[in-house]
Amino acid sequence: MRTVVHTRPGEPAQVLTLREEPDRPCPGTGQVLVRMLVRPVHPGDLVGVEGPQEVQEQNAEPRTPGAEGMGVIESVGADVHSLRPGQRVAVFPAPGSWADFIVVPSGLAVPVPVEVSDETAALMLVNPLTLLMLHRAVDDALRGSKGPVLQTAAGSSIGRLISMAAVRHDLQLINLVRSASGAQRMRLLHPTLPVIATCDDDWQEQVRHLTGGHGAEVVLDCVGGAMTQDLAELLADGGTLISYGQLGAGTTALEELALVQRALTVRGVTVLHWMDRTPEERAQDIAFALDLARSSPDLFEVAADYDLADFKAAIEHARRPGKSGTVLITSPRATGPEHGAAL
Ligand SMILES: NC(=O)c1ccc[n+]([C@@H]2O[C@H](COP(=O)([O-])OP(=O)(O)OC[C@H]3O[C@@H](n4cnc5c(N)ncnc54)[C@H](OP(=O)(O)O)[C@@H]3O)[C@@H](O)[C@H]2O)c1
Repeated sequence: MRTVVHTRPGEPAQVLTLREEPDRPCPGTGQVLVRMLVRPVHPGDLVGVEGPQEVQEQNAEPRTPGAEGMGVIESVGADVHSLRPGQRVAVFPAPGSWADFIVVPSGLAVPVPVEVSDETAALMLVNPLTLLMLHRAVDDALRGSKGPVLQTAAGSSIGRLISMAAVRHDLQLINLVRSASGAQRMRLLHPTLPVIATCDDDWQEQVRHLTGGHGAEVVLDCVGGAMTQDLAELLADGGTLISYGQLGAGTTALEELALVQRALTVRGVTVLHWMDRTPEERAQDIAFALDLARSSPDLFEVAADYDLADFKAAIEHARRPGKSGTVLITSPRATGPEHGAAL
């Protein structure tokens, strides 16, 4: 079986390699072995490779990127009664999904409804679950108000989900993108939501104007870096900056943000804490993700797909400016003799 691995943090194109392994892992009690078919290249997968992480320079255990994906159950371990070989499943959290086979606890393998495509299934957990976590954080911060809320990188896959939710919940959302062409795309997708391009010299003035001069109650930000200070300045006094990604370059010192003088709150949100929710809450969240995948597959746009062996081309595409949708990495459904019999 093939696995993408790295043994030290660094630039993904340099530190990641494709490794052939003679044996597949075996599912233990309560686990299933999944023949992975499709998994996304998320920005967070690349951040995870770049570090920091507890990977030693020498004699380190190889680590495989990936957090989610979909595939077919190959075999089940003892005490697994709810899933059977041949069944399509989406998996999350599934660390190491950039491999032909992975083992996951059976409770984290979500059966894929027949009407949901493999591509949508591969994308239907991380971003919708993140959306729910962000929505709860925004609700907490707004305390009953409808905004305004400012979001960065609005053209991203998750930014589009946030726009969809804002329209559904009548939230006063202002979308920020970095280019004029990105702004044009967003206007076509969501004509009712204002869009501002940060390449405009007066973009901050435009935001102030749209917020009636008061600033935004909440900023939902996945760019960070040097932009954090500009964003904090666009918050109303008492407002909340919700940070959930780090696409941008540079840094901002916390001391530069006038947190105390303006009673601002900075809060981080990560889907990696989704497992902290109760089993009942997680079941409700999964039901939401399944419903979205069934009813709105257009929200799970695919930019391109690449075979696992071409993971470097997939990474290059995933980082390409102006890309629309998510890049997928695929494995063949039917495998060659070295991988065993076809399903
Ligand atoms: N905290 C969590 O649990 C969690 C979970 C999922 C995703 N995320 C984060 O959410 C963000 C979006 O993820 P995604 O998968 O939706 O991304 P995506 O579909 O790959 O889209 C990336 C978007 O970011 C924009 N962008 C890239 N670099 C930028 C920069 N330096 N300044 C401004 N805009 C920039 C791109 O704009 P152009 O069109 O102009 O190129 C593109 O619209 C990422 O930061 C990711 O890590 C966080």
